[in-house]
Amino acid sequence: MYVKTELDGNCLVIYITNPPVNALSQAVRQAVVDVFKTVETNLDIEAVILTGQGRFFSAGADIKEFGKGDLLPSLPDVLDYIERCRLPVIAALPGTALGGGLEVALSCRYRLSVAAAKVGLPEVNLGLIPGAGGTQRLPRLIGMKKGAEFVTSGKPVGAKEALKLGIIDEIVETDLLEAAKAFARSLIGTTARSPISKMGPPEDWDKAAFDALMAKTKAKARGQVSPIAALEAVEAACTLSFEDGLKAEREIFKTCLENPQRAGLIHAFFAQRQAKKIPFLEAAVPQDVKSIGILGAGTMGSGIAIACASAGYDVLLFDAHTDALDKGITRIHAAFDHNIKTGRMSQPAAHSAKACVTPISDMQDLADVDLVIEAIVEKMDVKRAVFEQLDSICKSDAILASNTSYLNINEIAAATRRPDRVLGMHFFSPANIMKLLEVVRTEKASAQSLATAFAVGAKLGKIAVLSGVCDGFIGNRILKTYRAEAEFLLEDGALPQDIDRVMREFGFAMGPFQVSDLAGLDIAWHNRRKEDSTRDPNARYVDIADKLYDLGRFGQKTQAGWYDYKTGDRTAYPSPLVDDLVIAASQAKNITRRDISDTEILNRIMEAMLSEGRAILDEGIALKASDIDLVMIHGYGFPKYRGGLMFYGGITDK
Ligand code: 3HC
Repeated sequence: MYVKTELDGNCLVIYITNPPVNALSQAVRQAVVDVFKTVETNLDIEAVILTGQGRFFSAGADIKEFGKGDLLPSLPDVLDYIERCRLPVIAALPGTALGGGLEVALSCRYRLSVAAAKVGLPEVNLGLIPGAGGTQRLPRLIGMKKGAEFVTSGKPVGAKEALKLGIIDEIVETDLLEAAKAFARSLIGTTARSPISKMGPPEDWDKAAFDALMAKTKAKARGQVSPIAALEAVEAACTLSFEDGLKAEREIFKTCLENPQRAGLIHAFFAQRQAKKIPFLEAAVPQDVKSIGILGAGTMGSGIAIACASAGYDVLLFDAHTDALDKGITRIHAAFDHNIKTGRMSQPAAHSAKACVTPISDMQDLADVDLVIEAIVEKMDVKRAVFEQLDSICKSDAILASNTSYLNINEIAAATRRPDRVLGMHFFSPANIMKLLEVVRTEKASAQSLATAFAVGAKLGKIAVLSGVCDGFIGNRILKTYRAEAEFLLEDGALPQDIDRVMREFGFAMGPFQVSDLAGLDIAWHNRRKEDSTRDPNARYVDIADKLYDLGRFGQKTQAGWYDYKTGDRTAYPSPLVDDLVIAASQAKNITRRDISDTEILNRIMEAMLSEGRAILDEGIALKASDIDLVMIHGYGFPKYRGGLMFYGGITDK
């Protein structure tokens, strides 16, 4: 049953019934059309309400159907039936209406909603544009500028904002359906207002403003086509009749549907949902976590504290150095103040989050916390000593997590008497912003401990991915091969600016050498020195970065690294000195430099990363290819519209 109907006297309530989110699959579309056909013939019906069963009106088209050809009736066909119905249809939103869901609501004559409802047109996130009149109706209703914001950002708004904009007509604080029925009955015998399709074009149409918006959208899209396509459809709404605009929208929608970016983004959507589905954790019940102890008040520890406090956890922030602790608290408060200023957080929410963080200088105060996340110096002996201490301080069922980026957490776990409750929670900097969380499964970690880490990750709004223990886990291990191949390319004939440009054109925000300048060449140098004793002496080693370090070129912080910088200007200027160093490095190894094409640069880097990705899968470090995709997208800036590293390489989950 995809649609349920209830006849209350002369009022027909039609429920879209397709759990969990009332997606508008072919079966739903057919069922809606069939009901509307009966409305035409049953003259006892004098009022019609369209709603959704459960907490969704509808999350839009069934994403699984894209790419499967035309499955009739199409969504625009359904909207036609609703809009042409002999009775004005009232949409009653019991919750969220997204994409095609909102488009259905916009084809109704009036829209009522609960206060918790959200509305939006997120198609852009799937590489699409609204394909059932959303780009034509919404700008007519709320104007070109606001309409453009909806379709290019894909961000939903709450009911209050939707009411202000005129997307919904009323927020119902009492019983939604009773209110909708009363409203529908009040229309009997009156002339209902015209459908949105009969409205004139948006009054705020202004070609110059639109062009400026297009330029801004193009710059922000960084290679993604759907935001630009969505804006083109808005232009059609402003300059064409509704019917012609609708045709233009359909054409643009179809072009997006065929674009590989659509497949990449939809893959990323489902990958995110699949990452939570871990067979051996299905039966595990996460522990209750209310308080979290964070060890280390540096950049990472403070970022983790902000994330945890924002999610409502009580945070005890420990640092052995008073200075560092003070600085950490100042950093945390500054971040919350910034959130207020930028409108990301309300003042009361930021203040209550601030109040959640308590600085402590005595580790004994961690005795009662439910979870500890350690973010101190990356030294095995120090970490082992700290975990041993934590083990004796913390209550027996507390989970102890390390935020280490590459150390063997099995060894850390072995320093405690609770190895089943020790695991990795690897955040990415800035930890309060970056979405990725690698949950690292130690040999003895219990299912419950891992499930708890996933539950905490979800509450923090992170995309948590399971990784096994290995040097660098999933992400940093692949990053290492990326960086290494980029440096081999330097010796073979490319220059840093060539490689960075190719990777930017591929869709990364920055190339590897720009990233290195931002992160600091000194930090990377120290990391390399730690590896000197274990590095295979026969492995190819490029020493250009060491030479830059010797010259004091540490990156942006010294205004010189792989690039030159000017005071107050973060632009990376190619450096003749670096070019000379690169050429000299090739000569020193008797490598004849040659022209390296952009294609070769890209292919070699991708193949190096893919080969590591394959090894990570073969070794069981990642459970599935799509998990690697998520890590690369959300932790390392791999362009989401390419679906992630493995998807790009044609490797998908079985
Ligand atoms: N189609 C098919 N399945 C969908 C779906 C959709 N539109 N939206 C969600 N689902 C599925 C998810 O895959 C998941 O399935 P699973 O349980 O098997 O893993 C299940 O519904 C629940 O989804 P979430 O885990 O994401 O649940 P949340 O409560 O966290 O989030 C949501 C709900 C906000 C609706 C989120 O799922 C979402 O953003 N969905 C996508 C909405 C969207 O992009 N709509 C536009 C579709 S394109 C369109 O409408 C084109 C039209 O213009 C022609």
